[in-house]
Formats: sequence, C-alpha cells, structure tokens
Amino acid sequence: MHTSSSDQLREASALLNAANRVVVFTGAGISADSGVPTFRDALTGLWARFDAERLATPQAFADDPALVWGWYEWRRALARRVAPSPGHVAVAALERRTPGTVVVTQNVDDLHEQAGSSTVIHLHGSLFAPRCSACAQPARTAETMPESDGERIPPPSCDACGSPVRPGVVWFGEALPSAALEAAVEAAANADVLLSVGTSGLVYPAAEVPQVTARMGGKVIQVNPAPTPLDPIATVSLRGTAAEVLPALIDAH
Ligand code: APR
Repeated sequence: MHTSSSDQLREASALLNAANRVVVFTGAGISADSGVPTFRDALTGLWARFDAERLATPQAFADDPALVWGWYEWRRALARRVAPSPGHVAVAALERRTPGTVVVTQNVDDLHEQAGSSTVIHLHGSLFAPRCSACAQPARTAETMPESDGERIPPPSCDACGSPVRPGVVWFGEALPSAALEAAVEAAANADVLLSVGTSGLVYPAAEVPQVTARMGGKVIQVNPAPTPLDPIATVSLRGTAAEVLPALIDAH
C-alpha cells in the first residue's frame, strides 16, 4: 500500500460497512492493473500516444474508417487477452457483501462482468457491441487480431443496410446512452456511499455522477494514486492503485 494511511482505510471501511446502498464508479485506472492502458497517464496513456481527435470522434470515423476500426479492434483484442484485476474481483466481492451494489463504469472492457459484478452500467458503451453506423443494427463481427495498434482494418458492412459497422463506444461529441446515464444518476442520488476508482474525473457528463452523490448527502470515497478534481467532494481519498487498495478496503468490510 502506498500512502493510504491505515486511519484513512479504517474510516473508508467504516463508511462502506455502514452503507446499504453503494455505487462503485470506475474509470480506466481499475483496468490499468489488468494491463489495459489508461487515457491520460503521462507517457503510457492512450491520449499521450494517439490523437483522440483522429480516433475517437464521428468525424474521425467518417474521414478514415479503416484507421478507427483497426484501432478499436486492437483495443478489443487487448481487452479479450487480459484478466480482471484484484480491483475488479474486490468490487464483485463488495456486491456479494452489499447486495444491490451498482457499478457505473466509463470503461468499455467487460472486466467487471468477467469478475462477477452483476449490475454494470456502461456510460461510454462497450468494445463488444459494434453496430451499424447508419441503421444502428447490432453487428456480429469476426474479431480480428491486429498485429499493431496502428493497423488499418476496413470495417465490415452492415448485414441489413450495407453501411460500415462502427465500434459500440461513445465518441467525443456524442451523447451518452440516455437510459444508462439516467440509471447511473438515479443510483448515485440514492447512494449512501459512492466509491470512485481510477478515474481522472475530467470527462463530463460521466464526472457528474460522483458529484450527484455528494450533493444528495452521500459520502464519496476515492481510490487513485494521484489527486483529481474529485478530491474536494471525497470524504476519504485513498492514495494507491485499485489492485492494492480495493482488496484491503473490501476485505476489511
Ligand atoms: N489504480 C487506480 N487508479 C489508477 C491506476 C491504478 N492502477 N493507474 C492510473 N490510475 C488513475 C490515474 O491517476 C487517473 O486519475 O486512473 C485515472 C485514469 O484517468 P483517465 O486516463 O483520464 O481515464 P478515465 O478517467 O477513465 O477517462 C474518462 O475519457 O478518454 C475518455 O472515454 C474515455 O472513458 C474515458 C474517459
């Protein structure tokens, strides 16, 4: 454990113990322990190595569908190869201890589901739900194994209308799935405790979710090796990785 004091861990664990309604709000940091790159960590983050504007916007896909589809196939193949981290496993254990725990994730991998979490709200979609870019029909596509993260792969065509299939993720400039966002805000508003794990808290409207809990009088516990804009609303900020902190926090639960 890095710099999370045992007092802070005890305080966070007591809050979690007393809670009947828990939301776990996660970002790329919880999957970093599985080997999946985050977006904004210096040097290793995806946005430090790639231009989000060229890869994660509707215009990018219109301009160069093969580049964008190839990049998301690389990310999907990576997500398929890795296993849930001790953090994902601890979150699933928390749900067994506090039935009704809701996971609200910004991640597009399925590591929470693989670890056993049963209620997972994906605010930014999923790498495993490609759909037609025109008629939105879900597409069953053969999963490729790109050699590198820059390989161009022409997207498949929709069986129904022939338009290019697109990744099932939310791009910059696109609206979040309204049902998912409403369910996330509802869960956060009713939460006694929201555990925010591995997110920089920079991207809206997702970053609004922990703030709803705080505004409604719930407690926010944060797990992140670094400070974030959510620090001011956190009752406790545990400084460390999800893989280190969550098992200790939840096993003590
Ligand atoms: N354990 C916990 N937290 C970690 C770990 C770890 N092992 N490693 C890094 N972190 C923290 C970083 O300190 C950072 O605060 O995880 C956070 C990752 O932040 P981002 O890379 O910005 O990821 P995220 O917050 O999920 O981004 C939100 O932005 O690019 C869009 O749609 C994308 O869903 C993503 C959204």
